[in-house]
Parts: sequence; structure tokens; C-alpha cells
Amino acid sequence: MYDEQFRQQFHFSPKEKWMNDPNGMVYYKGEYHLFYQYHPHSSVWGPMHWGHAVSKDLMHWEELQIALYPDELGQIFSGSAVIDKENTSGLRTSDEEDVMVAIFTHHGEDNEKQSIAYSNDRGRTWTKYRGNPVIENPGIKDFRDPKVFWHEQSQKWIMSLACGDQIQFYGSPNLIDWTFLSTFGSEYGAHGGVWECPDLIQLEVEGEKEKKWVLIVSINPGGPNGGSVVQYFIGDFDGEVFTCNNEKETVKWADFGRDFYAAVTWSNVREPVWIGWMSNWQYANQVPTDPYRSVMSIPRKLKLRRHNSELKLVQIPIDLSSLYENTILLNENLTIQPLEPRQIELSELQVMIEAKIKENNSSSFTLTLRGEREHLQIEFDRVREEVRVDRTNSGHVSFSEQFASVDRMPLEQLNDFKLVVDNSSIELFVNQGSDVMTELFYPSEQNYTLEWNAKDGEVMLSNVSIHDIESIWK
Ligand code: FRU
Repeated sequence: MYDEQFRQQFHFSPKEKWMNDPNGMVYYKGEYHLFYQYHPHSSVWGPMHWGHAVSKDLMHWEELQIALYPDELGQIFSGSAVIDKENTSGLRTSDEEDVMVAIFTHHGEDNEKQSIAYSNDRGRTWTKYRGNPVIENPGIKDFRDPKVFWHEQSQKWIMSLACGDQIQFYGSPNLIDWTFLSTFGSEYGAHGGVWECPDLIQLEVEGEKEKKWVLIVSINPGGPNGGSVVQYFIGDFDGEVFTCNNEKETVKWADFGRDFYAAVTWSNVREPVWIGWMSNWQYANQVPTDPYRSVMSIPRKLKLRRHNSELKLVQIPIDLSSLYENTILLNENLTIQPLEPRQIELSELQVMIEAKIKENNSSSFTLTLRGEREHLQIEFDRVREEVRVDRTNSGHVSFSEQFASVDRMPLEQLNDFKLVVDNSSIELFVNQGSDVMTELFYPSEQNYTLEWNAKDGEVMLSNVSIHDIESIWK
């Protein structure tokens, strides 16, 4: 178990069967809960349950029993969970434990509505509320993915809900009785597909006292490189209405790769941190993994950074240093001469590679994971001001016509990068987490080297480190 071909060794995936969106993420008494869209009877999408795993450190995960099963109101689609510390819901039955309340979509035949369930034993067992649903379907086909938080200022629970290609906000004193507040989005951002999995959070602006509200919205399809993707909006929230500070036509993507979707944040934590589903609806059901399908991203801390007067979402992978095994640290600068590729053998495709760019005189600079016949290439192109990830010849690609691709992200400057590689995925964090790309690939060879190459000028790197990362499953 967990040693199958392609299996990520330090990312969460279920032991077996199908998984998609992360759900109900909440922290309580030393445990990070991760629920997820799960089909226990097959490794393709089907009647949705909530699978469940817990972690003490966001790195090592223990898979628990299925938390929520489909019932007469429908399948259990995506949603969130909160700790109802003040027992506003009246659903608390234990003296020792706070009640954990899950808010999710009941998906019936063409009828989506919102329901709740509760647990009085730290998420181990769940009871569905007898009065479900708590929000009926108002005649909107896609009406789902409730994400709830306690809004201090207006002293109520706020729910963000995806409705077609807009977001609706609802308010409640007790998680049971909900009032419609407002709608956002018809004129803002990207609308190439249906909006899903919203999250409304407050984030610090780096180096400033100010906090801003950020509305996160997944969209499928409509991504810059095709398929599913996460966009976000920055603005203000007064307890009723979200006001976007950007121009209507501005589109902000959280991750330009093709494999980061349905990402939302943990509830009841001090520092905002989120996780996404590392796949894309274009081919998620076909990826060549067995007996499981799909994996989560590395958890990432979130903040905002000012960049040419615009605010940008920044994602920093959680500290993985306790998993580092062998480390190659280059104290000297590493100078790469044009067309004299430098290669470093990798013992496994399970590494974190970091470097700063001290000088870059080349129009193009590549970082390649190279086997004998195949490779995955990341190219930093100074002329076009973009990064390209090329997985066209990266091993198994023929399982879906949509998979083989060269994917692009605009990039004005290259100061540093972190690359997290875990057997069949890369997560690239450029410029201290300002520019991010997540991509899957399915290597067919055993031995891989890391190759650096410059096209037509010298590139000087400093602080280069390569850390092998140990498996969390052993
Ligand atoms: C997003 C999504 C959600 C829905 C769930 C169903 O990937 O389509 O909108 O709740 O997956 O599994």
C-alpha cells in the first residue's frame, strides 16, 4: 500500500478509490481534519460521500472512516465545517467537546440544496440534522459548495455559495436558519465555466497593517491553460455585501498550472492555510493511477503582497524540513554557461529544489527533470516574460487527449524558486510564492536527473539546495 507506481509519498491521497475536492477542513484540539469528495466503490467519480483523514502536522495523515453517506436527499457534495464554540446551533450534546458542524450540498436529481450534519466526538461520528435541508433550492441548477465562517463584526455565520456563475452570500445566527444577503460576480472576473467551491477569507497584506477580504472561486472550465482553475477577487466585506476593488474585467488566477482545483482554507486556524485537489476535470477520471485516483496539493500558507500597486495572492508551501532526508547544499554560486547543461542525479523523484537567481543573462533558462527518453521541462523565458511547463514528452500522456500540454504563466521577473516534486506532480513556487504552477506528470522511467541549462547567456544561481523528502506513509 502506498508504494504503487506514481503514488505521491508526501501528499495526501486515499488508500484506494476515487477522490476529488477537499471538504470540511477544520482544526480542532490538535487535529487538522480533511474531508473529501469520495467514491468508495470505484476509482472513477460516482455517488459522492465525504471521506475523512486527520493530521497533527498537515504532513502525516491518518485515513478514518467515511464521515457522510448519500441518503434520500441525495449525494453529499462539497462543503465546509466549523467549530460552533458558543453552541449557537444547540446541537452540542457533550460536556467535554465542542460541536463540529458540517455544512454541505445535498445533490439530488437536478436539485441541489444545503444541509448540515454534526459531530460531538471530534469528527469521529456524524448525525445529519433532522430538519435538512437548511436552504432549499430556489430554482437554480448549480447551487452548491457552502463555505461558512463566523463574522465577528456582524456577529453571524456567513455562507458563500456557488450559484451558476455567481456567488451568493447567506447569513445565520445558528447555522440552521439562513437569510439571503447578496449576490456577487455576474460582471466580474472569468466566466468560461460554472463557478464552484467559493471561500471568503481575510488576509494580511505583507508588511502592512491592513487586511483585505479575498473571495476565492473555482471555475470549470475556463482556465488560462484549459479546464479547471481557481480565480480570486480582492475587496471588502461588510457582513452583507462583497465589494470587489478590481476592475470588472480583471482576472486573477491563483495557480496557472492545470492541476490545482477546488482549493479552500482551513477553519479555526490562526494562520490561513489551504489545500487544493491536484487534478483537472478534463482528465481526472483517466489518470493512470491504481487502486486510487487523485491526490491533494501540499498545504500552502496564504497572504497578500503588493506588486506594482496591485495586490496579489501569495502561496508558501508549509515547512517540510522535518521530512528532509539527504540534502545537497551548494555553498558556492552555481554558474551555468550557455549550452553547457549541468546535471545532478536524483535518487528519487521526491525532492524539494530551491534556488535564488543572482544573475540571468540568458533569454531562456530551463530546469528539466530528465529521464533517458522522456522529460518534464520548466522554461523561464525572459523575452516572452513567461514560464512554460512542457509535459508533452513526460512519460504516460496518451490516457487522455487533453493531457499532453505546454502550459504558460506570465512572469516579469525571476528572483527565486521552490520546486516540490513528488513522483507524479510538480508544484512550482516562483518569487517567494507570488507565481505558482501545479502540474501532474506520469514518468515511465526509473532514473532521473535534474538538469539546468541556459540558452545564450550566463545564469548564476545562489543558495541552491536539493532535499530528498521521506515518505509520510512508512
Ligand atoms: C468541484 C465539484 C463541486 C461539487 C463536487 C462534486 O470539483 O464539481 O462543485 O460539489 O465537485 O463532486
